[in-house]
Amino acid sequence: MARGEFERRRAALLALVGAGNIAIIAGAEQALRNRDVHYPFRQDSDFYYLTGFNEADALAVFIPGREQGEYVLFCREFDPQKALWEGAHAGLEGAKLDFGADQAFPIAEVDKVLPDLLQNKRKVFYPLGRDSELDIKLLEWIHRVRKLSRSGVSAPTDLASLEHILHEMRLRKSDAELGLMRRAAAVSAAAHARAMRACRPGMFEYQIEAELVHEFASQGLRAVAYPSIVAGGANACVLHYVENSAQLRDGDLLLIDAGVECDHYAADITRTFPVSGRFSQAQKRMYEWVLAAQAAALAEIRPGAAWNLAHDASVRVLTEGLLDLGLLDGEAADLIRDEKYKRFYMHRVGHWLGMDVHDVGEYKIDGEWRLLEPGMVLTVEPGLYVPADCVEAALDLRGVGIRIEDDVLVTESGYEVLTAAAPKSVAEIEALMQAGD
Ligand code: GLY
Ligand code: MN
Ligand code: MN
Repeated sequence: MARGEFERRRAALLALVGAGNIAIIAGAEQALRNRDVHYPFRQDSDFYYLTGFNEADALAVFIPGREQGEYVLFCREFDPQKALWEGAHAGLEGAKLDFGADQAFPIAEVDKVLPDLLQNKRKVFYPLGRDSELDIKLLEWIHRVRKLSRSGVSAPTDLASLEHILHEMRLRKSDAELGLMRRAAAVSAAAHARAMRACRPGMFEYQIEAELVHEFASQGLRAVAYPSIVAGGANACVLHYVENSAQLRDGDLLLIDAGVECDHYAADITRTFPVSGRFSQAQKRMYEWVLAAQAAALAEIRPGAAWNLAHDASVRVLTEGLLDLGLLDGEAADLIRDEKYKRFYMHRVGHWLGMDVHDVGEYKIDGEWRLLEPGMVLTVEPGLYVPADCVEAALDLRGVGIRIEDDVLVTESGYEVLTAAAPKSVAEIEALMQAGD
């Protein structure tokens, strides 16, 4: 992402924070996996959105109108030993030269410097409740400023939600952000197609996961947006199945929910396909209902449409489907009113997508479902899951789970499916799988 993009975001934030106020946001910490080994570092999305700074032990402060600089970055000092063992890091000079900070201080000095920055500020924009240690420190810093009141210094009186303003910004994606999301989507779609081509009865779920990882990493994207779900047969009914350890059986379906990140932007795709390469009649019938539900949901996506319309459309179609498949009995309107479909369709049709797979942004404003706007990105992912022990279901539907998930951009005139390259129709999937490797 170009530097100008981060500069624009900071300028927008400074304007929203307003003169006389201050905003503080910390980066992510490096999480320990086990002795001497850390999890791969992933910067906090809010922090990265504003700074593009990808190191641990960092904290950014924004002070509109401050003469010595509006953007102050606390980070690790440059350490040649650390550079030798762990590689490049910005240091204080890099923070200014490469990341656009007006001033940079060692993170070790944050306790000393931050109270000065809080002097004579009215409101502190801060993501309260994310890091209890930092919450306590902030109160201590404010307390220290309060003690100076007799020398004419005023301390902040209000805390405001930084997340609220930041998340409204993040909800609407810029062209640069969409460029990264398109790439995450394209590589993820290629990985799904690769998995379809590779799949054979008798393989193990982890071998299919390896195909996904191969596609991601060989295209230069090494961080998954969330742990890949590779769920054969009834495992597809476990919504967050990540064991990926079972053997794939001829005649079963395989549900894959997997997406990669491109420079901190996620894709989130689900495809469900037959292990053998051919759907049975019963599987096909159920699959077509889920596909129809997705089409009905997509048809509700356009600027000005309320968030819930897509979900409600998916519920209507899936309830019809459940009647057709013999999984529910009665009048559709009653079944919807009584939420009987929830036994087989227990999640919502989608969520915001962006730097976080379940991205930030309110779904309701003042108690009303939010209206879609161009630049928002969401997933559309209806599904049907028939538990293996569902005695009311026909035998060939028991233990079948189907979800179809795409990533969708709201455009000026409607929508664009960012993940359209992942094969989806029965004919497309069967043709690809039969073509083989
Ligand atoms: N992969 C997480 C989700 O679909 O919401
Ligand atoms: Mn999703
Ligand atoms: Mn998903």
